[in-house]
Amino acid sequence: MQQSKQWWKEAVVYQIYPRSFYDSNGDGIGDIRGVIEKLDYIKGLGIDVIWLSPVYESPNDDNGYDISDYQDILEEFGTMDDLDELLAETHKRGMKLIMDLVINHTSDEHEWFIESRSSKDNPYRDYYIWHPGDEEGNRPNNWESIFGGSVWEWDEETEEYFMHIFSKKQPDLNWENPEVRQSLYDMVNWWLDKGIDGFRVDAITHIKKKPGFPDLPNPLNKDVVPSFEYHMNQPGIGEHLSELANETFDQYNVMTVGEANGVDAKDAKNWVEEENGYFDMIFQFEHVNLWGDNQGLDLVPFKQIMTRWQEELDGVGWNALYIENHDLVRAVSSLGDDGDKRKASGKALGMMYFFMQGTPFIYQGQEIGMTNIQLDSLDEYDDIESVNRTKIMIEEGIVFDEAMEYIWDNSRDNVRTPMQWDSSEQAGFTTGTPWLQINNNYVDINVQEALADPNSIYHFYKKMIDIRRESETLIYGSYELIEADHPAVYAYLRHGEDEKYLIVTNLFNDHETMDFSDYHFEELVLSNYLVTDELKTEFTLRPYEARLYRLSK
Ligand code: NOJ
Repeated sequence: MQQSKQWWKEAVVYQIYPRSFYDSNGDGIGDIRGVIEKLDYIKGLGIDVIWLSPVYESPNDDNGYDISDYQDILEEFGTMDDLDELLAETHKRGMKLIMDLVINHTSDEHEWFIESRSSKDNPYRDYYIWHPGDEEGNRPNNWESIFGGSVWEWDEETEEYFMHIFSKKQPDLNWENPEVRQSLYDMVNWWLDKGIDGFRVDAITHIKKKPGFPDLPNPLNKDVVPSFEYHMNQPGIGEHLSELANETFDQYNVMTVGEANGVDAKDAKNWVEEENGYFDMIFQFEHVNLWGDNQGLDLVPFKQIMTRWQEELDGVGWNALYIENHDLVRAVSSLGDDGDKRKASGKALGMMYFFMQGTPFIYQGQEIGMTNIQLDSLDEYDDIESVNRTKIMIEEGIVFDEAMEYIWDNSRDNVRTPMQWDSSEQAGFTTGTPWLQINNNYVDINVQEALADPNSIYHFYKKMIDIRRESETLIYGSYELIEADHPAVYAYLRHGEDEKYLIVTNLFNDHETMDFSDYHFEELVLSNYLVTDELKTEFTLRPYEARLYRLSK
């Protein structure tokens, strides 16, 4: 079906996790000036839009996703002048910049919370979710926080609990209070007036909680129970989100992408519908939940999920396409092969998602095939979520080695190790001591090597970006899954006015014989192996082989 044309549909987005991108001043922490210095690299890859993870003032309990001042910059990242310069330099290169918008919660060091906790009759009291204990003074309910433990934290000062669905230093804002919403809209418009090009909107499915905060069923009589179903995508959330869009984003020509755990493909229509959707696109979680816990790729259900999203949104709304971000683990390590097939598998995974209908996102380091890391001790880890969860496992009696396996496989630090720029000391990331250990494999896996090697994952991504940019079919065309039941190969078509494309990727380390003799191949546009008989429709795919063909209609 026909899609309306929009700049953000034609764009390819690159996500920067600033702490780990490039350190310009030797303090071991990536910074805004570091991003400015690397803009030509990003432009060189062919990127249109940069998504910058949070750089706002923050005590860094969750690396900037705990904001203490929305309108100031964290000193270790630089100044507001640096940010203004980054915006200007990004625009000068014909790219756009979107910021992270974290409005489900603030830091407990935000002025609003400091006021709120100071007394029960403070005007800001209702900016957050306060609750007395039950008759015995116990926690109001048994909800578990996403980062482990209870969602409730006792506050001595006013003798009530406050709710935090992430860490206890990230109290949830009370979206039921119109003053909270208005304060947030004013802040959002302040940034939009500054000229930024949009937002990635953090944890936005959590802003509405189940009224009355009832206990969750607890058959195993646990201390706390996973609580997503009572604070994720709750009925009535759409009213808040429509208001947010009307009061802010819709007044500007910007791009928005909501982080939307808990929204399924059917429901997504409300979220991203062209006329009245709350966002231009959303990050859905169904495919990443499927490969959680380092299970590897269960391809048939994976294809079903991706296909459902492609079909449900075709002609209705738009997909955000991704396989990595700062909350996941590295794709080559968890889904592909980070040993001797690293390059082939990095390219195959890339091609698999890149040519679907939607806007592709690339997370820093994905374009050079960076891998997971295994640190020796818990102390070396930083990520609050995996550190908390590992500590809880150890407290509950899980043996240390098993707990370490868990953190190796799951820690978000896997994707947060510093960017590997070259083979010099500290991977060229910093002249100081990096805030998080650098992966030892930087000697072989780094940007300098990738730029010099015409067969690198980097050059493959660059070609994919160029090819997509030149093709209306690859941007706007409809998607059709073929070979749905094949357990190792993901193959699909994109349908254009008078051409088609076939994307065929072998996502495993075996040979697979394919027969596409029903199709008429015009051209092999891109592949990650040398192919001799280019237009032959029956062939054997080698391990992690990926091909893009142009077909006649
Ligand atoms: C989602 C963000 O992507 C993640 O990094 C963060 O920890 C939580 N939201 C809380 O803001």
